Parts: sequence; structure tokens; C-alpha cells
Amino acid sequence: MSATIIDGKAFAAEVRGKVAEHVAELAKKGIKPGLAVVLVGEDPASQVYVRSKGKQTVEAGMESFEHKLDASTSEADLLALVDKLNNDPTVNGILVQLPLPDHIDEDKVIGAIDPAKDVDGFHISNVGLLATGQKAMVPCTPLGCLMLLRDHFGSLSGKSAVVVGRSNIVGKPMAQLLLRDSCTVTIAHSRTKDIEDVVRGADIVVAAVGRPEMVTGDWLKPGAVVIDVGINRLPPAEEGGKGKLVGDVDFASASEVAGAITPVPGGVGPMTIACLLANTLTATCRANG
Ligand code: GUN
Repeated sequence: MSATIIDGKAFAAEVRGKVAEHVAELAKKGIKPGLAVVLVGEDPASQVYVRSKGKQTVEAGMESFEHKLDASTSEADLLALVDKLNNDPTVNGILVQLPLPDHIDEDKVIGAIDPAKDVDGFHISNVGLLATGQKAMVPCTPLGCLMLLRDHFGSLSGKSAVVVGRSNIVGKPMAQLLLRDSCTVTIAHSRTKDIEDVVRGADIVVAAVGRPEMVTGDWLKPGAVVIDVGINRLPPAEEGGKGKLVGDVDFASASEVAGAITPVPGGVGPMTIACLLANTLTATCRANG
């Protein structure tokens, strides 16, 4: 293996430490940031994330408000809760965990969140602000990836970057952030022709497709820096799988070719929550002038 391993876990701990220091400063002025997390239903992966978010919020010195609603909760009731949180001065950040049950319109719920409290950066106002280079709430996972890349390279200016995946949560905002840092950006997706060749042209590869181990070493330019956003659980051994957590990148082959690579777990995942805390702090500071 030749690639440097990018330690997202350690970097995230540093970010959380800086956030906690800033929160301690705010406490002297009687200000305590509050983050409300809303979970509808019992999706096991979402439950794990929400528990982890709550724990790390409290560890950073912030207030954590958890709202766990039944899977049968109506859209109207969820919108009423969002409205209540929008008007609650002790709540600085609101996160509605996705995906929502099928009977609820996600766009409508995201659109109901006060953009100033939208710590996910999913509200169309924040999407537009980011796309036009204005001060926005930036989605946590792409922000975490950007921080790792900036830490690795210093400047990203002039690098060619390929984002594999075009989701609203990761792919599209990631491309916007890389463009803002003066990369030449391509978004590749399931319909991209000769996707291996497209990826092979990149200095930076961000994989966010949700397909286990799709990007292999032979897709990479030697020395490329690879950020793996995927978190996929392979089927258990009794079903013929390896039963382990893997990314969207085949780590074994990619690490033979890449210059640097994030592992799964311990790469991008911890950065997402660290950035959520940083966004909550930013929202609190903006709300308090
Ligand atoms: N589900 C998976 N990732 C995310 C995220 O970053 N924010 C929210 N709200 N839901 C998610």
C-alpha cells in the first residue's frame, strides 16, 4: 500500500475541540447553543446517527433536543413541530433526519425550516446562497470532505475534481464547494459514459454513490486523493458477504494507486457530525449578532 491514510477521526476530534472552546466562551455571555434533531420512524441506521449526534452535541457543551416521532406521524404534525422549533429561541439549529417515511413530502418539510436554523444546509435558500457564492449554511458531509481536502492540499485551486454521485445531500453541494475553491469540477453518475476514464482524469475523487466498493484502483490516476463518502454494510457471512462496513471505494486496490485516501469507517463519517456542531455554533453566533 502506498497511499497516505487521511485520518478523519482525529481531524474531527480537533474540530469538535475548537467548537467546544468557542461554546465555553459563549457560556460566559450566558449563551448556550441548542440543536434540535427530529427523527421520524425507527430506521436503525438513522437511530445510530441520531444517538451519536446527541452525545457529541452535549460533549461540546451544547443543548441537545431530541424529538422521536412515530413512523405514522402525519406531515401536518411534523410541520407543526418544525414551526414550534423555528419559534423557540433556545433552538439555534434544526435537523430533520432523512429519509422521512413515504407519506411525508421531504421538500415541504425542509422548506418549512427557518433557513437561519437550517444546520443541514438543505433549505432552498441555503442551496441558492451556496450556488451564488454567498454566505450560506453548508451541508455537513461535503463541508467535512472539503476540510479534509484543504488540510491535505492547502490550496485546491486548479485541481481537477470528479464527484461521483449527484445527490442533493452530498454530490451537488460537494461540486459547488470544489468549484468555489477553484477546482475544475465534473459530476459523474450512473449514466456517465466511460465513467472509469472520467474518474481517471481527476486529481481529486469524491465518491458518494452508495454502491459498495464501486471505485477500484484501476479507475484512479496514480497519486489521486480519494475521499470516500460511502457507508455500506455488506451482507453477513452466512449470506455470502463479508458482513463488514465498506465505502464506495474498494480500499484495497485504491490504496495501491492513490496518493491519499480516507478509510471507512474513520474517514468522512466523523467529520459530518463535527461539521454539524460547527454549523450549530455558526447559527448561534449569527442569531446573537
Ligand atoms: N441522512 C443521511 N445523511 C443526512 C444528513 O446529513 N442530514 C440529514 N438531515 N439526514 C441525513
